[in-house]
Amino acid sequence: MRHILEQLDKRREQANLGGGEARIERQHARGRLTARERLELLLDQGSFEEYDMFVTHRCTEFGMGEQTIAGDGVVTGQGTINGRLVYVFSQDFTVFGGSLSETHAEKICKIMDMAVRNGAPVIGLNDSGGARIQEGVASLAGYADVFLRNVMASGVVPQISVIMGPCAGGAVYSPAMTDFIFMVKDSSYMFVTGPEVVKTVTNEIVTQEELGGATTHTTKSSVADGAFENDVETLVQTRRLFDFLPLSSSEKPPVRKFFDDPHRVEKSLDSLVPDHPNKPYDMGELIRKTADEGDFFELQSEFAKNIITGFMRIEGSTVGVVANQPMVLAGCLDIDSSRKAARFVRFCDAFNIPILTFVDVPGFMPGTAQEYGGIIKHGAKLLFAFAEATVPKVTVITRKAYGGAYDVMSSKHLRGDINYAWPTAEVAVMGAKGAVEILYRSDLGDPDRIAQHTKEYEDRFANPFVAAEKGFIDDVIMPHMTRKRVAAALATLRNKKVENPSKKHDNIPL
Ligand code: HXC
Repeated sequence: MRHILEQLDKRREQANLGGGEARIERQHARGRLTARERLELLLDQGSFEEYDMFVTHRCTEFGMGEQTIAGDGVVTGQGTINGRLVYVFSQDFTVFGGSLSETHAEKICKIMDMAVRNGAPVIGLNDSGGARIQEGVASLAGYADVFLRNVMASGVVPQISVIMGPCAGGAVYSPAMTDFIFMVKDSSYMFVTGPEVVKTVTNEIVTQEELGGATTHTTKSSVADGAFENDVETLVQTRRLFDFLPLSSSEKPPVRKFFDDPHRVEKSLDSLVPDHPNKPYDMGELIRKTADEGDFFELQSEFAKNIITGFMRIEGSTVGVVANQPMVLAGCLDIDSSRKAARFVRFCDAFNIPILTFVDVPGFMPGTAQEYGGIIKHGAKLLFAFAEATVPKVTVITRKAYGGAYDVMSSKHLRGDINYAWPTAEVAVMGAKGAVEILYRSDLGDPDRIAQHTKEYEDRFANPFVAAEKGFIDDVIMPHMTRKRVAAALATLRNKKVENPSKKHDNIPL
């Protein structure tokens, strides 16, 4: 008996070593943690339960029959993050470069199936040389098995991908189909074809980092939602993100203890909006001053900065925030900001997270670049996402809400539940200058008359009351009361029930 127990210990010890000391050292020398060290940081201490530790590949080609390593390049199992269940896989670069074999894929599929069955998120830590070359098409089949599960799990349980090393070729499409991607700066990359192929095909000379590093994907492509300095910080931030999310679409988001008065009054907000309508101000200040403990977890913070997306809590409950940022492009909606916000809104709606929208939008961005790039279709994504969302929707217009962009930004007309405006709000078809230039073209040579028309237009339309008189705005609220009013609104909406018509699925303009 004792002998058998010792054997188990020995086998576990061996599996824990993955590809061996030398390869572990190499991993550390690159500033990267091993697959197991990463899981230790990601999960609550002692909570990890591993599955399939002794699985090995079945390949016999290229001398692989003599090279089997327990676990086959991926550590899988379940654990908890702040006490809540999560399924995880962590690719082990020290074992065949973390490459994906048939059995490696089966291990990932197993925990994904369990996650969907048991209603808990999946977090994948990616660090892999891609398809296991020795296995050929069996490996490609394994990828497809994972892809299919990513799609089936989408909207059922949250899926988070953390890229902590190479992730190239078709392998990128599994993370691409998950809800959030975090990357480690200067240590991870994602691309469909690498620098050598790029050079051959397009003559472009580009480094791995330039082509698919964390900075590229958080500033240019928007493939990733966050980039962090090293493995440790990335895993800490992943825990933070996880804490905002419900375990599955059949649950409400978690409620945690809060230490901030929901009735807190913020006098400083009364002077947030500058006197001059074209002067910018930081919408981030309003977000932080509305949130519990001023805590806001921003996503895609370096991409399409004219719109802000992220999570906060109010009375301890998760709230998704979408807010125009007047500091960047005057808060205009353009292709990138529409796509960014639309995807975020759809995530919130899929996972029962109420949406708080702060509006200061002068309209859609004009120009050939936008029109040729399809702003019509991309802008429609955000309109579609807000319109179809059935979660509680609270909107606060702080200043401009012009034209079609007014409709788009979670207006009453798209089933906004509670729509507030500050006294500084201007809800109109367009700003005074533009309107007067169209309505009084013949007076354009007469500055006095133009000034008079502008004043008239501003008096009539540059306020929230025309919309409030029609019931499109539920109330005009003092800026300093925003947190209190939003908290009260969200509290009344906790049991909101709305259903969209039954259908196979919608046809959002992709
Ligand atoms: C089998 C692999 C491997 C792979 C790496 N290794 N990639 N084994 N299949 N795909 C092994 C190496 O042989 C080596 O083994 C160990 O992992 C570490 O690799 P190194 O090359 O020494 O590491 P490094 O210098 O850091 O380079 C990492 C790398 C490179 C850039 C990932 O290994 C590489 O280019 N690998 C091949 C990438 C690739 O072409 N993959 C297929 C892409 S197509 P030892 O024993 O020496 O430690 C694809 C399609 C997916 O993925 C399709 C989905 C639909």
